[in-house]
Amino acid sequence: MKGTVSMAQLIAAAREVRRRAYAPYSKYFVGAAIATKTGRIFAGCNVENASFGATICAERNAIGQMVAAGERQPIACAVVTAGPRGGSPCGICRQVLWEFASDMPIALVGEGPRAISRRDTSLKKLLPDGFRLKRG
Ligand code: THU
Repeated sequence: MKGTVSMAQLIAAAREVRRRAYAPYSKYFVGAAIATKTGRIFAGCNVENASFGATICAERNAIGQMVAAGERQPIACAVVTAGPRGGSPCGICRQVLWEFASDMPIALVGEGPRAISRRDTSLKKLLPDGFRLKRG
């Protein structure tokens, strides 16, 4: 992984922010952290809503934090959910990540009551042919 941020640090940030996830309906708590080319980390958790469709995933909130800070070049991502295998980003989040990087390493971490699992994948594997619109 390029830059100064290690995947271990990114996972730690995602685990930390996951504790603040607002998921009273699904009880499925998600934390995501994104490292950028400049060596910064942006974290986000899922925020649910009584109007279920208004729920925002952790990955998209992390991207929002990144963009609001003036950064647009993610180089790695960690997503932490409940164990035993960890969850894979939903289709919308894959597309939102893809807007800013067609490939980057992604660690999928599952936090069990005793053990932590980790699967390493990449955005290209999760979304090999994302939708791109010519910028005006
Ligand atoms: N969720 C995420 O935060 N990221 C994903 O990639 C999949 C789903 C959240 C949305 C909702 O709060 C809960 O998980 C159950 O779908």
